[in-house]
Amino acid sequence: MRVSRLQKGMGLTVITSDVVSSVYASRECGLLLGDAREVLRTLAENSVDCTVTSPPYYSGRRHVGDTIHEIGSEKTVQEYVEALESVGRELYRVTRPTGSYWLNLDDKCERKEWLGIPWRVAFAMREIGWKIRSEVIWHKPSHVRNVAKDRLTPAHELLFHFVKSKDAYYDMDAIRKPSSPPTWGKNGFVKTPGASVPTDVWTIQIEDSTSPENPYAVFPEALVELPIRATCPRGGTVLDPFVGSGTTAVVALRLRRKAIGIDASADCLEFTKKRILEVSGQPATSRQAPFNHAVKVSYGRMR
Ligand SMILES: C[S@@+](CC[C@H](N)C(=O)[O-])C[C@H]1O[C@@H](n2cnc3c(N)ncnc32)[C@H](O)[C@@H]1O
Repeated sequence: MRVSRLQKGMGLTVITSDVVSSVYASRECGLLLGDAREVLRTLAENSVDCTVTSPPYYSGRRHVGDTIHEIGSEKTVQEYVEALESVGRELYRVTRPTGSYWLNLDDKCERKEWLGIPWRVAFAMREIGWKIRSEVIWHKPSHVRNVAKDRLTPAHELLFHFVKSKDAYYDMDAIRKPSSPPTWGKNGFVKTPGASVPTDVWTIQIEDSTSPENPYAVFPEALVELPIRATCPRGGTVLDPFVGSGTTAVVALRLRRKAIGIDASADCLEFTKKRILEVSGQPATSRQAPFNHAVKVSYGRMR
C-alpha cells in the first residue's frame, strides 16, 4: 500500500513516495512503515507541531527482529550520533516554526566509562538549529539492581526539549501542578502558592517490560503526556519517528491531537494499530496517563 492513502486520510502531511508504506490511515492517525530517515523525507515541511520519541539505544549490535534499517546497531557512537542527526535534520524541516522536539535518550557505559551519548546528540541537534529549551531528568524509582562495586546505580535517563524558535508554542496552564490546600504552620495556616510550574526532574515508574500485553520496550505514558499537553495545541499533529508499540500515538489521540507514527518494524506497527483501534472513540478523559499521579508520577518540587 502506498502513501497516497495516508495523504487522503490526513489531508495535509504526506507526499507520495516509493520508500514508505502505510500500515494504517484515518483522519486522526497515520502509521508508516520504513526507515525513519527515508519516511520523514516524504512528509511536508512545517506540518508537525510536536515530536516525542525514544530512539533505539546505542548497542553496537543488531537485535533479533524484523527491522532492516535498525538504528542503534552502528559500529561506533559517532555513526549512531550521525544517524540521529539525519533524523533530527528532517524533523527540523517538518516541524512548524512554533514546534517542539522531545528526545529521550539513555547513555551507555563501556569499560567503566559513560560515553556521554545524550549530550553528544543534543549538541548535534544544536548544529542543525534546534535550541535546547529544557533538559529533563527522568528519575526511575525502580531500576535494575546494580552489581558494580565501584560506581553508583544509574537511575535516570535524559529527555531533551528542543524548539525551533524562542517563540515556540507553550501552554503552561495545561501542565501546572494543582495548588495544594493550606498547611498548618507555626503561626497558623500557611497558604501554599497557587498552581506552579513543574520542575525538570520527573519521577516516573518504568513500564513493566515483562507485561504479556505489551512485549515491546515501552515509553511510560506519563513521560509523553506532559510534552504533548504543553507543546502541541489541541487538534495539532504529534509525530513519533520511532513509534514502537505506539505509546506516543495513543496518548496523542486520547488528548485529541492527531498522530503520525513511523517504525521500521512491521510487527511493531501491527501491534500499534491494534492499540490505536482500541483507543479510537474513547472519551479524552478515560484511561488517561496518570498525569500528576501522586505515587507513580511526580514532576518535581514546586518552584
Ligand atoms: C525504543 S523503541 C520505541 C519504543 C516506543 N517509544 C514505545 O513506547 O513503544 C525504538 C523503535 O525504533 C524502531 N527502529 C529502529 N530503527 C529504526 C529506523 N531506522 N527507522 C524507524 N524505526 C526504527 C524499532 O523497531 C523500535 O520499535
